[in-house]
Amino acid sequence: MKTIVIVGGSKGIGKAIVGNMVDSQKVINLSRSAPEYTHANLTHYNVDILSDDLPEITAMDALVYCPGSINLKPFARLSLEDFREDYEINVIGAVKAMQKYLDVLKKADRPSILLFSTVASKLGMPYHASIAAAKSGVEGLVKSLGAELAPNIRINAIAPTVTDTQLASKLLRNDKMIENIKERHPLKNFLNPKEVAEMAEFLLSEKASSISGQIFEMDYGIVTFKI
Ligand SMILES: NC(=O)c1ccc[n+]([C@@H]2O[C@H](COP(=O)([O-])OP(=O)(O)OC[C@H]3O[C@@H](n4cnc5c(N)ncnc54)[C@H](OP(=O)(O)O)[C@@H]3O)[C@@H](O)[C@H]2O)c1
Repeated sequence: MKTIVIVGGSKGIGKAIVGNMVDSQKVINLSRSAPEYTHANLTHYNVDILSDDLPEITAMDALVYCPGSINLKPFARLSLEDFREDYEINVIGAVKAMQKYLDVLKKADRPSILLFSTVASKLGMPYHASIAAAKSGVEGLVKSLGAELAPNIRINAIAPTVTDTQLASKLLRNDKMIENIKERHPLKNFLNPKEVAEMAEFLLSEKASSISGQIFEMDYGIVTFKI
């Protein structure tokens, strides 16, 4: 049985990843609140990634970092503090987790890391300056560390479009907003956490042995097509 360490497995996409993997893998979750359910294969540590010391974990095969932000404002209203906060939770938190566990990961057989970007890194959209800047930092990490950690550790990112989680709840407040979001996507839908979790599971598995340093758009066409 492999051991997956996930930062942010209590909610959203992370929760779906835990749900997909916990029957067959050992899952260690780090988040500020506990997952809603318990399972013999699930261990939880109450951790704020930005302020707490991370627990010692002696063996792991994969590391997943889920915390992120959606802080959409006109550029003039984005404070420097907004930019710093987005960078902290999206980039520095991931760096902290990776630096803490890199030596342990290196000891595993074919280990891998998975981070999260967003479609807004590739697709220019108004009001996304801060999150686009932070997630471009995540994508830079994936490229640079992909090279630096090869051939031992693979690292990839998923760049989702709108996904039905608590983080995106302001964008999906009512039926009209939901219809608008669907309509903006060439494939006329947006993501549910489960379908992102399926991609995560694939990228962490040995089926993805040939893949490192890649950013996977899960975009219902919004980055890829102009129809
Ligand atoms: N949802 C979308 O539409 C969307 C779109 C594009 C990209 N993404 C990206 O996809 C990733 C996952 O998004 P999501 O929608 O699943 O987010 P989410 O629903 O907010 O879940 C985030 C997870 O991270 C944990 N977390 C947040 N801050 C933390 C901290 N300081 N320390 C420890 N754990 C922390 C949360 O748990 P606790 O609150 O218990 O700590 C939760 O388990 C993010 O990187 C996001 O930027 C999401």
